[in-house]
Amino acid sequence: MNRHQKEIDKAMNSVNKAQIAANASYWKPQYHVSPLANWTNDPNGFVYYKGEYHLFYQHNPYESVWGSIHWGHVKSSDLAYWTHLPISLAPEMEYDRDGCFSGSAIEKDGMLYLMYTGNQWTGSNYDTDLKQFQCIAVSEDGVTFHKIAENPVIPAAPEGDIHPNHFRDPKVWKRGNAYYCVLGSRTNDQAGQVLMYRSADLIRWEFVNVIAGGDPKLGFMWECPDLFSLEHHDVLILSPQGMKPEGHLYHNLHQSGYLLGRLDDETGTFHHWDFNLLDYGFDFYAPQTVLDDRGRRIMIAWMAMWESEMPEQQHGWAGAMTIPRELKMKDDKIISVPARELRKLRQDEVTAEHVPVSGKVELEGVSGDCLELEACIDAQSAFIFGIRFRCDDHGKEATILSYDRLTGMLALNRNESGKGPGGIREVPVDLVEGELHLRLFIDRSSVEIFIQRGEKVMSARIYPQESSTGIEFFADGLIILNKVRAWKLRNCRPSLGTYLR
Ligand code: FRU
Repeated sequence: MNRHQKEIDKAMNSVNKAQIAANASYWKPQYHVSPLANWTNDPNGFVYYKGEYHLFYQHNPYESVWGSIHWGHVKSSDLAYWTHLPISLAPEMEYDRDGCFSGSAIEKDGMLYLMYTGNQWTGSNYDTDLKQFQCIAVSEDGVTFHKIAENPVIPAAPEGDIHPNHFRDPKVWKRGNAYYCVLGSRTNDQAGQVLMYRSADLIRWEFVNVIAGGDPKLGFMWECPDLFSLEHHDVLILSPQGMKPEGHLYHNLHQSGYLLGRLDDETGTFHHWDFNLLDYGFDFYAPQTVLDDRGRRIMIAWMAMWESEMPEQQHGWAGAMTIPRELKMKDDKIISVPARELRKLRQDEVTAEHVPVSGKVELEGVSGDCLELEACIDAQSAFIFGIRFRCDDHGKEATILSYDRLTGMLALNRNESGKGPGGIREVPVDLVEGELHLRLFIDRSSVEIFIQRGEKVMSARIYPQESSTGIEFFADGLIILNKVRAWKLRNCRPSLGTYLR
């Protein structure tokens, strides 16, 4: 058996042992992708390959903290039910000895290619003492990957105002006969930027240009770029590190958003408009997209944030992915809506219509810790109204979503959500003919809120007690719940042992 396979087996043994404890954790998601045990951060290699969605993820199989980065692997035929596959990449070559960092996937000649960043620490300071290399691994069956002999395929960053060491997260695509990739980078004086390369065969790469960046207001480093076309626009997704807060914006440690523009792939120039966030909650980073066989652009992100307190670490696991979201354009902005296949998870529908609320109201059958809740609220005479969910019986624990009509801001407050970090995030929202439309996806330790049919989204990790399952609508004047629908969502967490070959 080769060394890579030995390392993978060792890693899987570790996860197999640890998954018993992790699976016993109440906070383990029931329908979101999360590692069987131990750590995950970014989604990687999201691809539609031979009729199935494959998703890889940054994974430490040995501990519930970041380190020893491998690639975990899940697949799905419908974006709703996911199956765990063996770990696909383990660090063991000189060029990736300190981690198989983020990257992407593409099909070529029926084979699945992963393009990732090999990381080397060259000293003890992780900000300055590192080298990064772009590498390829190939699979014929979509399960077992071998690293190619030509690695690293991009051995060093190009010359110019380009930081030589911070050079990572290739996202690859094909246009015409050529392959392209974008890479996260920074200038020598610390402004984020994105590099573009071109290749005829995925092995030999030529540097085309710095396509965007250099504005210090947009952070010191751009991680995890993604570039694609969406309804007549080109879109550059990026995850800038170190943007300063501005009003209600940029209060997380790092951000993820997009630039709309036009790419000239001959010259490698990207003329674009302003930066916009993809999610206004607390926990959303390093999103990656895939174009599927139906022409949909689907995005998944890491639902956590660097340096955040993660109470699930004590239970032997950490991190989860968002639900898959379809990206669409509306009025020159990206909107994100839950992939429609998630409807397969719905059961026990409860519906209510034309319910007046002044003060507070609970609806029969609307409660839980694993559900989808859709509410169409007519603001009528209320100034402040919203939904409290994951409430306990004593009025002590609740996560609060409230709309303030005077400021036009929707606020998500997790100060009393339970364990874990608190805080409030706000987003401006316009009522549409007096109505606020909300769709909440609640899982054991998370909530994702789709506002006005995906115009804005807020995602958060929350860590309530198991018994905190109450949901109530509240208003300081009169509101009418024009329509409320709620569904319990099926538990599709994999059973123990699915990791064994
Ligand atoms: C983003 C990131 C990437 C890097 C990976 C390492 O969250 O920092 O830039 O490749 O995580 O795990």
